[in-house]
Order: sequence, then structure tokens, then C-alpha cells
Amino acid sequence: MINKQEILKIHNLHVNINNKEIIAGLNLIVNKGEIHAIMGKNGSGKSTLAKVISGHPAYQRTKGNIFFKNENITNEEPEKISHKGIFLAFQYPIEVPGVSNIDFLRLAYNCKQKQLNKPEVDPLSFFQLINDEIQKINMNPLFLNRHLNEGFSGGEKKKNEILQMSLLKSELSILDEIDSGLDVDALKNISNNIKTFANKNNAILLITHYQKLIDYIKPDYVHIMDQGKIILTGNTTIASNIDKHGYEDILLKK
Ligand SMILES: Nc1ncnc2c1ncn2[C@@H]1O[C@H](COP(=O)(O)OP(=O)(O)OP(=O)(O)O)[C@@H](O)[C@H]1O
Ligand SMILES: *[C@@H]1O[C@H](CO)[C@@H](O)[C@H](O)[C@H]1NC(C)=O
Ligand SMILES: *[C@@H]1O[C@H](CO)[C@@H](O)[C@H](O)[C@H]1NC(C)=O
Ligand SMILES: *[C@@H]1O[C@H](CO)[C@@H](O)[C@H](O)[C@H]1NC(C)=O
Ligand SMILES: *[C@@H]1O[C@H](CO)[C@@H](O)[C@H](O)[C@H]1NC(C)=O
Ligand SMILES: [Mg+2]
Repeated sequence: MINKQEILKIHNLHVNINNKEIIAGLNLIVNKGEIHAIMGKNGSGKSTLAKVISGHPAYQRTKGNIFFKNENITNEEPEKISHKGIFLAFQYPIEVPGVSNIDFLRLAYNCKQKQLNKPEVDPLSFFQLINDEIQKINMNPLFLNRHLNEGFSGGEKKKNEILQMSLLKSELSILDEIDSGLDVDALKNISNNIKTFANKNNAILLITHYQKLIDYIKPDYVHIMDQGKIILTGNTTIASNIDKHGYEDILLKK
């Protein structure tokens, strides 16, 4: 058997917000080279999980551990977690008026370079680099000079998250509803970009409601989350069953 290399391991995680338990004993292992998808009804805790992995300080970890490449990151700061190699594309990317998109992207990129003991890139070289990336996702260069996400449409915000993903090349990329707001052509293109981005040295965690993304990307595992736990793990067949019959059968059987 091939030796699998663990990228992410979550063991019996419990998380509270305002004394309410939102994550309630969640287990998950993601290995190098794997794509996982998490599905689940509104409010089942998917986005909370993504934010907790990324180090969001507002959520109180009351029990259990999160390991990234065998390192305990359960209570690590978001900045450190990002430096270690976890990227989160938000379900609702925030608008940051006053910060130009390209400045933000270059800052993020140079932080990563510094972390890797590589030289920072100057604005001109960065412009070249980013231009290649925006062409891959069919994004208009004008978006580089806009303020970060300010007035971006839903789909434009999602593309900008993918731009960050491809720029940072983190070992683990968590994409929270990256498919929401994208038109059919953009969804296909972005899915292809994600597939191309995935390789044997990284891992991707997709959070989605829709089978379309699953059909395009064909993740290795599909997990169903309910009330803060993963209650079922399987292959893409689970997603098509949900598409046909909804969650009721699965939730009744658990
Ligand atoms: N800051 C908060 N304050 C209060 N409740 C919160 C907070 N953050 C999350 N919750 C609650 O935690 C539960 C899980 O929310 P979460 O956003 O993780 O769900 P989700 O699975 O991502 O849902 P959706 O599919 O609608 O995006 C919800 O009931 C939500 O109201
Ligand atoms: C519930 O899930 C649907 C399906 O993706 C999504 O479009 C909607 O925004 C979610 N509702 C809420 C209130 O978050
Ligand atoms: C992981 O770190 C947290 C605090 O940051 C600590 O409470 C927990 O015991 C650690 N877990 C292990 C297995 O070392
Ligand atoms: C996405 O669209 C752009 C512009 O049409 C194209 O150049 C690129 O090859 C497409 N990418 C993928 C992966 O399909
Ligand atoms: C998915 O898993 C089921 C068993 O749970 C199996 O019968 C089926 O062939 C698998 N499908 C794919 C696409 O791997
Ligand atoms: Mg969510």
C-alpha cells in the first residue's frame, strides 16, 4: 500500500460560539493529493468548520484537535496558519474599500515569498505574473486596479478568490461555496482551473450545495455534514443521490 501523507487531521473537534455548540465532535482526515467535498444543509456548520481550520478567533475550540501536517494548529493564529500553507476562499468575501486589489494580491504573494525565503517581487514583475493568472480565469485586468472586492458582483468575488488560490499555491485550499454566484460558463472554467491546480502535493476541500461542481471536479471523497458532525462519507454517488432525493433519507438513516 502507498504511504499516504496526512495534510489535515481533525479529531473529535467541538466548537462553540456564544455558548452554543456549532461543531460537535467532528472527525476528518485529508491526505496529500486528495480532493474532498463537504455538503450539508444550511446551518450544518460547514463555513464554521472552514473558518475554524483557518484560525478564526471568534470560535471557541472546547475539545479536540486540528493538525496540519502533524503540527497541532488547534489554537494557532490565522496569519500563522496561512503562512503554514492553508488558504480559505470565503463564502462571503469581504469588501475592503481603499485597498487596491493588485496591492493586496502582491502583499499576500510577497508574504508567501518571504516565508519561503524567496525574494519579494517588484510591482512590474508582479503585474506580469498576475496577468498570466487572470487570463486563466477569464478575468478582466481592470479588476486589478479596483478596490478589493468593492462593488464586485457575486461571481467576480468568487473569481478573485480563485485568483488568490492560484497565486498562493497553498498546500491546503479550502473553497467555501466557490460555485455560488458563478454563471454556467464561469463555473465550468473555474472548475477546470481548480482541477488543473490540484496535484499530488496539495489538497483541496470544497464546500458546496450543488452537484454540478462535484460533477466537474470529481472529488475523491464526499462528506455529509449535519449538526456539526460528518455523518456520512462516500464517493460522488452521494452527491447525485442528494440531488435526486434531498437530505431526508440520509438524515433519517444516520
Ligand atoms: N457568529 C455567530 N454567531 C451566532 N451563530 C453563529 C455564528 N456563526 C455561525 N453561527 C451559527 O452556526 C450554525 C452554522 O453556521 P454555518 O455558517 O457554519 O453553516 P453552513 O453549513 O455554512 O450553512 P450554509 O450552507 O447556509 O452556508 C448556524 O446555525 C449559524 O447561525
Ligand atoms: C442555503 O443554501 C442555499 C443553497 O446554496 C444558498 O443559496 C443559500 O444562500 C443558503 N441560505 C442561507 C440563508 O445561507
Ligand atoms: C493542541 O494545542 C492545544 C492548545 O493550543 C492544546 O490544548 C492541546 O492539548 C494540544 N493537543 C495535543 C494533542 O498536543
Ligand atoms: C478559462 O477561460 C479562459 C478565457 O476564455 C481560457 O483562456 C482558459 O483556458 C480557460 N481555462 C480553463 C481551465 O478552462
Ligand atoms: C461509489 O461507491 C459505491 C459503494 O458505496 C460503489 O458501488 C460505486 O461504484 C462507487 N462509485 C464510484 C463512481 O466510484
Ligand atoms: Mg456556509
